[in-house]
Amino acid sequence: MDKYMWWQKAVFYQIYPRSFKDSTNNGIGDLKGIISKLDYLKELGIDAIWYSPFFMSPQEDFGYDITAYDKIAPEYGTMDDFKLLLEKSHALGIKMILDLVLNHTSDKHPWFLESKKDQSNPKADWYVWKDGKKKNGKKPPNNWKSIIGGSMWKWNEKRGQFYLHQFLPCQPDLNWRNEEVKQQMFDYIEYWLNKGVDGFRLDIIHTLFEDNKFRDNPKSWRLFPSESSSASLFQNPRYTQFLPETIEICKSIRKIVNNYSPPRMLVGEATREPKAIRSLYGAHNDGLNLVFNFSLCNTDFNPKKITKIIQESESLLPEPYWPCFCLSNHDNKRMISKLGNNEEKMRLFTLLLLSIRGTPFIYYGEEVGMHQVKIPKSQWSDPIAFLKFFKLPIGRFFNRDGCRTPMQWKPVENNAGFSPNSSIKPWLPVPPSLMTQNVETQLNNKDSLLKFYHDLLKFRKNSLALQIGTFSLLSTANEKILTYKRTFGDEKLIIILNFSNKVVEIVNPTIDGFKAFSTKSIIDHNNFVSNIILDKFEGIILDIRS
Ligand code: GLC
Repeated sequence: MDKYMWWQKAVFYQIYPRSFKDSTNNGIGDLKGIISKLDYLKELGIDAIWYSPFFMSPQEDFGYDITAYDKIAPEYGTMDDFKLLLEKSHALGIKMILDLVLNHTSDKHPWFLESKKDQSNPKADWYVWKDGKKKNGKKPPNNWKSIIGGSMWKWNEKRGQFYLHQFLPCQPDLNWRNEEVKQQMFDYIEYWLNKGVDGFRLDIIHTLFEDNKFRDNPKSWRLFPSESSSASLFQNPRYTQFLPETIEICKSIRKIVNNYSPPRMLVGEATREPKAIRSLYGAHNDGLNLVFNFSLCNTDFNPKKITKIIQESESLLPEPYWPCFCLSNHDNKRMISKLGNNEEKMRLFTLLLLSIRGTPFIYYGEEVGMHQVKIPKSQWSDPIAFLKFFKLPIGRFFNRDGCRTPMQWKPVENNAGFSPNSSIKPWLPVPPSLMTQNVETQLNNKDSLLKFYHDLLKFRKNSLALQIGTFSLLSTANEKILTYKRTFGDEKLIIILNFSNKVVEIVNPTIDGFKAFSTKSIIDHNNFVSNIILDKFEGIILDIRS
């Protein structure tokens, strides 16, 4: 058997269903819309798709607040649409992974409606409830802060207790110490696996358990988390994140998934220092198959910093462990806009993403260079935008709407071809830059960003060195250059990335080979080089097989 699994070789693509393609002219995306674009995705060259949730939900957090784990939200389609989507994807050789929101449900979920009634109903213990402090019991049980700020506890008058929410108050945490809850969620996992899905992305999986003694979290001086510390909002989440019990659940889910053939996979979402992230893989590689490393989303255009990220990832996750990277997602600003909407820089970052060791995830629209969009206040949708911290409306700075705007299919002003009828206004506005940053226009231009993605994905598909080859960083005298080697059998590739805005000449390289790929459009495949010239912000792949 092949030592490497499909998800190690695959390139994933994230679809935010609400924003991919509307088939019904209601301004929001749906499953039928996605089905109509599967050929486009096949042509693009991706291997698997992660879908943000399309389950039944009041959509207060756009699907991350679920009211039925086994039903499709009617605005997105029906179970038959889902089946067709899966069937057609598989027929095209595209795998499908779903978003599993295990930490919390919506507060409109029938379980929570029951649970909050009193302290003795059948679902009373399905969520994390606790008595408050002080005489009237109305002071939160401890100092825990939710991920998005404010107390992690919300008072419920009827039940006379607080419930816990690691995220928004409308997303009460399930009580994973309750065996019934655990069994129910495991049943849902099997329910979808039995339907044939190829795996799951596990939403904020690091927050599944909290300390059972409810000890206060230690104080910290940090307001914002960083790559090296997860402390934020002046608190270190020691008792609320990455508990050993959480790792045990990851292992149990891995066991369930391992029973299925063809092989399925798990990728976790967790935010904290790399060491904590490593723990979710399990001490014996028996936990999650992959855990997102968000360091590239947050880094600067700086080869030194990027080198550090790669070195850290390589030392923490040597084989058989496998890293997992992305440049942006539905919670993060679009990468091209972080790079000043500079397409050359975006190409360089994309080559980086697709050529370092690890499974890459592309966020929808990245391939046509969709920009982060400034959304007028009247159209804000993300619940985080409306949050107030210490009475200040700071939530607006964390508004995630700008990276969730409709996919840009055509140069059509009002909705970029997202809805069939061009007069329909989509749920979030499209920006003027859609006139160039769209699929139709870029398919007709051989020098476009989209064509670059096509070429690079094709190159990667034919290169086992890029997919699963060994990785080693190479040193260079020029600190604006990042270079590394990927090797698999006879195939030896050297990737050279020029982060400077100047032409760089590498004289007398100790290697000999030919430019097999470049982020610039024109490549001469027969061009053996003894000195290598890189244009500003150019990235190349040298083939040194011979
Ligand atoms: C994850 C999701 C995010 C969601 C949150 C709560 O971070 O990516 O979109 O709001 O979890 O489920």
